Amino acid sequence: MRTPIIAGNWKMHKTPAEAVAFVNAIKGALAELSAVERVVCPPYVALPGVAEALHNTDIAVGAQDVHWEESGAFTSQISAPMLVGLVKYVIVGHSETRQYQGVTDEMVNRKAKAALSHGLRPIIAVGESLEINEAGETQAFVERQIRAAFAGIPAEDLSRIVVAYEPIWAIGTGRSASGEQANAIIGGIRATLAELYGAAHAEAMRIQYGGSVKPANMVEFMSQPHIDGALVGGASLKEDAFVELVRLAIQAKGLA
Ligand code: PGA
Repeated sequence: MRTPIIAGNWKMHKTPAEAVAFVNAIKGALAELSAVERVVCPPYVALPGVAEALHNTDIAVGAQDVHWEESGAFTSQISAPMLVGLVKYVIVGHSETRQYQGVTDEMVNRKAKAALSHGLRPIIAVGESLEINEAGETQAFVERQIRAAFAGIPAEDLSRIVVAYEPIWAIGTGRSASGEQANAIIGGIRATLAELYGAAHAEAMRIQYGGSVKPANMVEFMSQPHIDGALVGGASLKEDAFVELVRLAIQAKGLA
């Protein structure tokens, strides 16, 4: 049984003070919903405050990205050793970093390895553009992203990795994939992982869906067998909506 994982990707939203106020407001309600793993990924500058506010809870903190080097002349970047003690998870390969910061498949692989080597857990994000989707090439494209992201990562690290499938055309657009479409692609990702690592490892891996997830469509996604949670942007910024997403995941997976 894979424990579902709901992660809020706050992107470039909330000041440090707002971030702390937000987690203080939801941590009571989330404490009772421990059947799924709950993660918040605030901007870097809010991580110390949020980590402290969540210190005695089982709500995890994640970063939104990490550099692959440990230190050096990389103005503006944050390395894995800097995140140790602050976060459990780190998102790598989010499509916005691929699109606006030129992050390539090879960099995603290096970022994931850097996170793993410092005891952090990467959430590896993959997903296709509208053009690729409409050309019917989603499965092949996502398979290539997965193979590149996992290159050289040994099987014993897999239990510390989460995959997020996020079709780019569904991110922040209000236009989500259907539960069935997402389940089919995620099933394909699992098949690729099975080719790389064997069926048992692939079956144990958690794979999230992301892209315009909100309370109104949460059950549609979470009732799919291959979907083990959600990476949520917009809806994770609202206290009620985020708590409701976690509640709906528990309900849809029959964990209540
Ligand atoms: P969205 O973002 O939920 O606002 O579509 C998802 C993401 O980019 O992780």
